[in-house]
Amino acid sequence: MSELATKSSQELMQMEDKYGAHNYHPLPVVLSKGEGVYVWDPEGNRYYDFLSAYSAVNQGHCHPHIIQALTTQAETLTLTSRAFYNDQLGPYEKYVTDFFKYDKVLPINSGVEAVETALKLARKWAYKVKGVEHYKAKIIFASGNFHGRTLAVISASVDPDSTKGFGPFMPGIEVIPYDDLDALETALQDTNVAGFIVEPIQGEAGVKVPAEGYLAGAKALCEKYNALFIADEVQTGIARTGKLLATCGNCSCDYSCQHNPEVKPDILILGKALSGGVFPVSAVLANDEIMLTIKPGEHGSTFGGNPLACKVAIAALEVVQNEKLAENAEKLGRVFRERMQALADKSDLVNLVRGKGLLNAIVINDSEESKTAWNLCVAMKENGLLAKPTHGNIIRFAPPLVITEEQIHACCDIIEKTILAYKKS
Ligand SMILES: Cc1ncc(COP(=O)(O)O)c(C=O)c1O
Repeated sequence: MSELATKSSQELMQMEDKYGAHNYHPLPVVLSKGEGVYVWDPEGNRYYDFLSAYSAVNQGHCHPHIIQALTTQAETLTLTSRAFYNDQLGPYEKYVTDFFKYDKVLPINSGVEAVETALKLARKWAYKVKGVEHYKAKIIFASGNFHGRTLAVISASVDPDSTKGFGPFMPGIEVIPYDDLDALETALQDTNVAGFIVEPIQGEAGVKVPAEGYLAGAKALCEKYNALFIADEVQTGIARTGKLLATCGNCSCDYSCQHNPEVKPDILILGKALSGGVFPVSAVLANDEIMLTIKPGEHGSTFGGNPLACKVAIAALEVVQNEKLAENAEKLGRVFRERMQALADKSDLVNLVRGKGLLNAIVINDSEESKTAWNLCVAMKENGLLAKPTHGNIIRFAPPLVITEEQIHACCDIIEKTILAYKKS
């Protein structure tokens, strides 16, 4: 047995603390194995995963179909760079553009890189197609946004934890209130606006679901003012909210989305579950008028579009389709919210339940600065379920979408038991 395999959770946490940067504040649990909705610590304790790596593991941990694709391709060819063609990229590009109904895809790695790609594309489109004056292009963001951690996107953040000490920030940004079509219309009147980027549901802000019609209204306004409607579906996309995409609204189409008559983003940003959490794979999808504004040498990444990613992403999307994960998320999301609402009705500790599909949150009856949400998550861990606060008094619940109804009820029992037993200190 290797030296690592014999270490205890305590020792492993101490190692991270000593040798790693302190840019995260993890719950005190070490994970060493995962399968479906379950993860285990080195001591062999089993937990339900109710975070799914921030919605990357929608297909469940180590899904055999995805792992099979990964290992087969890993033994064949992993990386070529885009200096050459590879035999997996074209088939993947065809598959993913058919799946989401766009002319073209730009393959990249992490979520934030995909957002950056979308922002660059929007600027290029503004100069080349819309005719915005040289370097005057502006992107509108929604307050409370979370698009990742690079300098460009934190320039639009209103969260001091994201921005403090990292200025100067990128210009060409306007931040307007979320879920406010009047504010959007006012902002769009500036003819330099290239586009509006929005999360269909704000995950990191605490699973904030906008009013019915907001996304369709925003898209219509963008069309009216000749600006791009850019959807960041890195967290909400790929079945998480009970549809293939959160922008799908109430459309009736199955997988292989028709986007008809609902909201079709001009630029769609995907990440996380595009690989089922196996490794970083992200994508930007758009039609030719937008995508072809970027020419060879103007954007890219060594790993973007690597054969391993292509194979894994096709397998990950096949699982979503074959196992009808959107339907499962829709159905079990309702069960989950009903159970949480019943809990809110009998506990003073839970103020509110909100969400869509299996992206949900409860708002705890305490201040944003309190430790109650954190303490509850630690107590739930002791009872065998892992979740994490988003901000202060909000706990997000986002299990893998392969969860069964029986498991959802078992998890609701754990959450209920923990909350009802909790005594504020
Ligand atoms: C909506 C959204 N966009 C972008 C990102 C950034 O993704 P990544 O952490 O893969 O860079 C996240 C991550 O949580 C996200 O939730």
